[in-house]
Amino acid sequence: MDAGIHVKDLNAWFGSTQALHGINIDMPDKQSTAIIGPSGCGKSTFVRCLNRMHETLPDTRVDGKVTVGDMEIYGKGVSAVSVRRRIGMVFQKPNPFPTMSIYDNVASGLKLNGYPNRSELDGIVESSLKKAALWEEVKDDLKKKSGASLSGGQQQRLCIARALAVEPDVLLMDEPASALDPISTSKIEDLIFELKKQYTVVIVTHNMQQAARVAEFTAFFLMGNMVEFDKTEKMFTKPSDKRTEDYITGRFG
Ligand SMILES: Nc1ncnc2c1ncn2[C@@H]1O[C@H](COP(=O)(O)OP(=O)(O)OP(=O)(O)O)[C@@H](O)[C@H]1O
Ligand SMILES: [Mg+2]
Repeated sequence: MDAGIHVKDLNAWFGSTQALHGINIDMPDKQSTAIIGPSGCGKSTFVRCLNRMHETLPDTRVDGKVTVGDMEIYGKGVSAVSVRRRIGMVFQKPNPFPTMSIYDNVASGLKLNGYPNRSELDGIVESSLKKAALWEEVKDDLKKKSGASLSGGQQQRLCIARALAVEPDVLLMDEPASALDPISTSKIEDLIFELKKQYTVVIVTHNMQQAARVAEFTAFFLMGNMVEFDKTEKMFTKPSDKRTEDYITGRFG
């Protein structure tokens, strides 16, 4: 199935303040797209609109159309739970369930979805931890250690494993490495590079070198508008909008 993300005329509000203005963007299937732009420009709001997290905050509103494959995210009768099963999300600050074991953290989404069989569950936990490049570090402690006992970088990879366990089509990552040291960051970057072979990845980052390393495409946001979307290489060498050029050359932001 094609899991490209198609966004048409997307607007989002906090109360009466509009945070996103008429966003149009088509992010291709099994590629990664970086979202860049200065603080407060709407990057987090944008990715949160892609899996219906924006509506979980009080007094918020969204309109416009978002489709992923054949699923219309804001379509009539489409539940937020079914959307989030197919569109996983990883946040800036790792948020494993602290007292749950490593195993139960990874299995948590599957249990919620009523997954039946123990041995199948074992297999999915193992393969998810392998995909998240954490298996070797934790395989002997799966049920002994808690989520909170891991390092920050390991916790983030645990959260990635948890997101992958339900077999989503899309993985959204909001500054997944900004709280991590350089070694953990490079592990996460290597991981994104692998994951995009199998998933459509959208990554918010403040780090333009990181965008250049992991993303084929980049979108530049400014004050709630999407200014430019293009191949990352083109964006960072020959942007077509003066505002993009000013941002990437460090003249503002
Ligand atoms: N919970 C909230 N309530 C009200 N306004 C909010 C809320 N969260 C964000 N906003 C506003 O929406 C706009 C977009 O914020 P958003 O968090 O999407 O920016 P961002 O690009 O992710 O910034 P950063 O790089 O700092 O994470 C900002 O003007 C912000 O003040
Ligand atoms: Mg943000």
